[in-house]
Amino acid sequence: METWDAIRARRDVRQFADRPVPPADLDRILDAGRRAPSSQNTQPWDFVVVTERDRLAKLATVWRGAGHVAGSAATVALVAPVPAEGRRGQVMFDLGQAAMSLQIAAADLGVASGHSAVGDQELAREVLGFPEDRFCGYLIPLGYPADRPLRPIERPDRRAAADVVHRERW
Ligand SMILES: Cc1cc2nc3c(=O)[nH]c(=O)nc-3n(C[C@H](O)[C@H](O)[C@H](O)COP(=O)(O)O)c2cc1C
Repeated sequence: METWDAIRARRDVRQFADRPVPPADLDRILDAGRRAPSSQNTQPWDFVVVTERDRLAKLATVWRGAGHVAGSAATVALVAPVPAEGRRGQVMFDLGQAAMSLQIAAADLGVASGHSAVGDQELAREVLGFPEDRFCGYLIPLGYPADRPLRPIERPDRRAAADVVHRERW
């Protein structure tokens, strides 16, 4: 897919087909996350990739909005050091950059993605095994959409450009 098409085709998918993502595609998606920019190039992320069905089902219970993780082909957990006072915004921004980078790479391959926040950090730690000084910022479920393939969306559910964009001054 062209980059512009991948950007327009990405949408949050919550129902996935029962079909694995080829390992080489998954590796490319993860590499896109690894290549994301971060504040002072700190690269605060680690990615825990889950494909086992039982583990996905448990991971889907870490947040009331995480149910779609259970049916994903793979879910990438974005893990980072517990931030120092006042640094949380920076770390979350960096994780967001990594998330978007891997989601666009996924869309380029026809692989859909979703998001989920994480509510219960202790449960996430139990399922994923990350150390005490880390937290799980987000989950990015991946897989092929159950409904229809990714295609550029002509009219996205977004505020109008004229409302969002201010030129020279607000
Ligand atoms: C920071 C962040 C957290 C999100 N958390 C959740 C979540 O916990 N569960 C969920 O189903 N979707 C979650 N979403 C997905 C948003 O609801 C989705 O991106 C938004 O509705 C736009 O969807 P669309 O891109 O398909 O139009 C999250 C998105 C972001 C950026």
